[in-house]
Amino acid sequence: MKHIILSAALSFAGVSAYHHFGRQELSKWAPAGPNDFRGPCPMMNTLANHGFLPHDGRNFTKANAVYALSTAINFNTSLSELMWEQAIIANPGPNATFFTLDHLNRHNVLEHDAGMSRSDAFFGNNHVFNQTIFDETRQYWTAGILDAKQLANGKLARQITSRAYNPNYTFTATTEEFILGEVAAPIIVFGDMQAGTVNKSLVEYFFQNERLPSELGWTKKVNPVSLEDVIGVGNLIRNATSLLTPSSAAPHAKRWDLHAGFRF
Ligand code: HEM
Ligand SMILES: *[C@@H]1O[C@H](CO)[C@@H](O)[C@H](O)[C@H]1NC(C)=O
Ligand SMILES: *[C@@H]1O[C@H](CO)[C@@H](O)[C@H](O)[C@H]1NC(C)=O
Ligand SMILES: *[C@@H]1O[C@H](CO)[C@@H](O)[C@H](O)[C@H]1NC(C)=O
Ligand SMILES: *[C@@H]1O[C@H](CO)[C@@H](O)[C@H](O)[C@H]1NC(C)=O
Ligand SMILES: *[C@@H]1O[C@H](CO)[C@@H](O)[C@H](O)[C@H]1NC(C)=O
Ligand SMILES: *[C@@H]1O[C@H](CO)[C@@H](O)[C@H](O)[C@H]1NC(C)=O
Ligand SMILES: *[C@@H]1O[C@H](CO)[C@@H](O)[C@H](O)[C@H]1NC(C)=O
Repeated sequence: MKHIILSAALSFAGVSAYHHFGRQELSKWAPAGPNDFRGPCPMMNTLANHGFLPHDGRNFTKANAVYALSTAINFNTSLSELMWEQAIIANPGPNATFFTLDHLNRHNVLEHDAGMSRSDAFFGNNHVFNQTIFDETRQYWTAGILDAKQLANGKLARQITSRAYNPNYTFTATTEEFILGEVAAPIIVFGDMQAGTVNKSLVEYFFQNERLPSELGWTKKVNPVSLEDVIGVGNLIRNATSLLTPSSAAPHAKRWDLHAGFRF
């Protein structure tokens, strides 16, 4: 979704809203300082690093989230509002009007096991980028252009590893819905939603640097990303998560043989 720093920066000139935390340019980026909060979401961390969200990782109000998601990655306002509304439960306080990146670290509220780039809470840190975990996921990213199948393979592998080695592995039907959106996110933000593909280099740069891959040529989508877009790409991943191939590709499967004899 991003590239060519100058043109990207110019496109922000049209955004006039005042934000006390400032620094709303793609070219501006700084990692978290010692007192800044960061969390398990590579995109929330990225937007804080750029200053589209408060750099200290605090005070993520609905207005601040809508501003950041719209300005940085051209998410439609109603989609951004919905995402924020679904996330506000991260703040355990009554009638909360904001959440912080530290709130997102609460295990099994939004954060969950078997992430693509974070270790399970059971093993210690559930929110800092973990190269070992990410490398495991990337083993299944077998081409320069990722598609739903490669992304789904990485997701499945992480679940198998977690279920095998984490005695406290927790993964509900709700987790599945969340993770489909997370696995789809790179295609939505950095890729081609129609083709269901994304350049692997952009995705690796994003995860490993927590920075928008402008210097690799990415620019944000021209048309606002809507809820329908997110659901559509999520369903591509859902479909690709099945380990079955279509029946027509295995014409002998219905023939009676020894294996079929075990079926009811
Ligand atoms: C209000 C907005 C958002 C909130 C509150 C949020 C929150 C979260 C949380 C809590 C996780 C951790 C889940 C886990 O345990 O793996 C997560 C993961 C993730 N988020 Fe977000 N997110 C938001 C928007 C986005 C957007 C716009 C993107 C687009 C790129 C994105 C990309 C991802 C990805 C790729 C992961 C998976 C990381 C991994 O598996 O290692 N998020 N998000
Ligand atoms: C939090 O952000 C809102 C804008 O959404 C702003 O009005 C408010 O002053 C901020 N609060 C703090 C403590 O920074
Ligand atoms: C939270 O909101 C509810 C419903 O609006 C209200 O009854 C309650 O008093 C509020 N609680 C606090 C602590 O503000
Ligand atoms: C990364 O995750 C692995 C597997 O859970 C864990 O053994 C290792 O300590 C983690 N590394 C860091 C730096 O947290
Ligand atoms: C362990 O599993 C329980 C039940 O699923 C869950 O509530 C808890 O948060 C998990 N703790 C860790 C550290 O994984
Ligand atoms: C992916 O993007 C990088 C950086 O812009 C570019 O060098 C590379 O050629 C692209 N890869 C493919 C397969 O198009
Ligand atoms: C945002 O998307 C919704 C559908 O999800 C649509 O009704 C609305 O018109 C869109 N708004 C903008 C500004 O694109
Ligand atoms: C669903 O997945 C199957 C098997 O991977 C694939 O052949 C088919 O084209 C997919 N359908 C859609 C709508 O993506």
